[in-house]
Amino acid sequence: MSNDPIARFKDLLAQAAQLGVEPHNAGALATAGNDRQPTARMVLLKDVDAAGFVFYTNVQSPKARQLSDNPRASLCFWWAQLKRQVRIEGGVELVSDREADEYFASRPRGSQISAWASQQSRELASREELMTAVALLTAKYQDRPLPRPPQWSGYRLVPDRIEFWKDQPDRLHERELYTREGDGWRITLLAP
Ligand SMILES: Cc1cc2nc3c(=O)[nH]c(=O)nc-3n(C[C@H](O)[C@H](O)[C@H](O)COP(=O)(O)O)c2cc1C
Repeated sequence: MSNDPIARFKDLLAQAAQLGVEPHNAGALATAGNDRQPTARMVLLKDVDAAGFVFYTNVQSPKARQLSDNPRASLCFWWAQLKRQVRIEGGVELVSDREADEYFASRPRGSQISAWASQQSRELASREELMTAVALLTAKYQDRPLPRPPQWSGYRLVPDRIEFWKDQPDRLHERELYTREGDGWRITLLAP
């Protein structure tokens, strides 16, 4: 059993990618704001290292409002082909502007335009309203590079608990929980 849950997570992610899981980096992000109503939705994991798990989104979206009320979240990954689940919990912080700028610049142009055009989760009068915004932005920027929209950035979930679940016969699944302890991790086994 590895002492490093991040290395272990990366290894699973690589295995999923190798098996052709598409997308292999999608996880359910759960948040709850002041109304205490938990909400889950999928996000794509764009970076992971010892500092934490990074995803990008609209920072005026419902999830972002919840994270500003209560900067804690959980991410849950499930790869059916591997029969593995990973659950992560911890505090959440915004990535630096530089990190967000760099990642935004690496995105396909269509995604950059939609990040500007979409006021994520706001009600639309019609699909045309969105497509008109896309057309206007496409014309406005033509061949110029798009800067990162101020309402678009990334969050880093800094884990304090990471649980690895592995399918086993007769529902005697293996569960290993890593709990942050000082600079390291305490590892415990959980009943299935
Ligand atoms: C596979 C998958 C990946 C997604 N990845 C992201 C993502 O990385 N960032 C994001 O903002 N929304 C992503 N979405 C859309 C979200 O699930 C959600 O609809 C959107 O972020 C609005 O959520 P909110 O209203 O709770 O803020 C993804 C959806 C799916 C199905």
